[in-house]
Amino acid sequence: MKATAKSPANIAFIKYWGKTDLKSRVPENNSVSMCLSDLYSLCTVEFRKDLKIDEIEFKNEAVVKTKEKERIVRVLERVRKLGKVKWKAKVVTENNFPKATGIASSASGLSAVTVAALGALGMKMSEKEVSKLARLASGTASRSIPDGWVEWMKGTGSGDSYSKQIFPVDWWQVSDVVGVVTHKMKKVSSTKGHVLANTSPFYKTRIQGMKEKVKKIKQLIKKRDFSSFGRLVEAEALNMHAICITSKPAIIYWNEITIKVMKEVMRWREEGLESYFTIDAGPSVHVICEEKNAKEVAKRLRRVEGMKRAVINRPGVGARLLT
Ligand code: DP6
Repeated sequence: MKATAKSPANIAFIKYWGKTDLKSRVPENNSVSMCLSDLYSLCTVEFRKDLKIDEIEFKNEAVVKTKEKERIVRVLERVRKLGKVKWKAKVVTENNFPKATGIASSASGLSAVTVAALGALGMKMSEKEVSKLARLASGTASRSIPDGWVEWMKGTGSGDSYSKQIFPVDWWQVSDVVGVVTHKMKKVSSTKGHVLANTSPFYKTRIQGMKEKVKKIKQLIKKRDFSSFGRLVEAEALNMHAICITSKPAIIYWNEITIKVMKEVMRWREEGLESYFTIDAGPSVHVICEEKNAKEVAKRLRRVEGMKRAVINRPGVGARLLT
């Protein structure tokens, strides 16, 4: 009745911002992402007869909000219901990067809990069903289930909104060098941000363009056309943040180091180091480059004043049971 899972963070090239069904986390549009090789969560779940309540432990975290624990308990409840089990569980979870800073900690953390809980009960489900179950915990968690390059389909509703692989891990040697700019948790959660998305006067226009963008990015990944891919990725990140900035109330996920890095990346490009930025709901910056340039990008990121860490990621595998 015990299992450990490892699950990656992922970076979206075409992003998920806004839902048609808030409770079941059905997105307004399809999104396209890549699993990250070197940023992940590890989670152990043990169902035990002697426990009166679910015990959740976050390793190496100074601050844990009640809401974070409740989200994990809801995963356990879903899995218990499916497995027809009543026992409570002991959960120990940890990330190898700071949570709630724009590095998809809910994606890696909640997909890891989902896979570990299913594993602990010995439940076998298709990748599609696991992805749907992870989606209920956090939308982006559904994209951490398949390996490599992934598309999350909005589907027609909760029953058919899931993620699938579109290209394998070794399809294209693109790196995401993640600049960790803070250890502080963001003030506005992405769940809240999704709710506010349609208060932006530009949201409708964004959504109208998403189908075309998803089609385009898949073509560019297929052709391995890095320059066009990078330009689209960067424009898409700015488009999503334009929605955040113009929501009511406004959400600004960036800090001064984020902006500094954005400008630096543009300058590096002019100097011939081809790289593009993308940013999720937090101040960390993901610098996208070809693998041959990843070390140089990391070196330059580490030189930016205030930068905590730079982590080089390749396309990675999805969630796995370790035991
Ligand atoms: C900004 O998955 O964190 O990273 O479904 O409410 O848990 P919930 O939201 P979450 O959304 C974050 C979205 C994003 C963009 C993306 O990764 O597509």
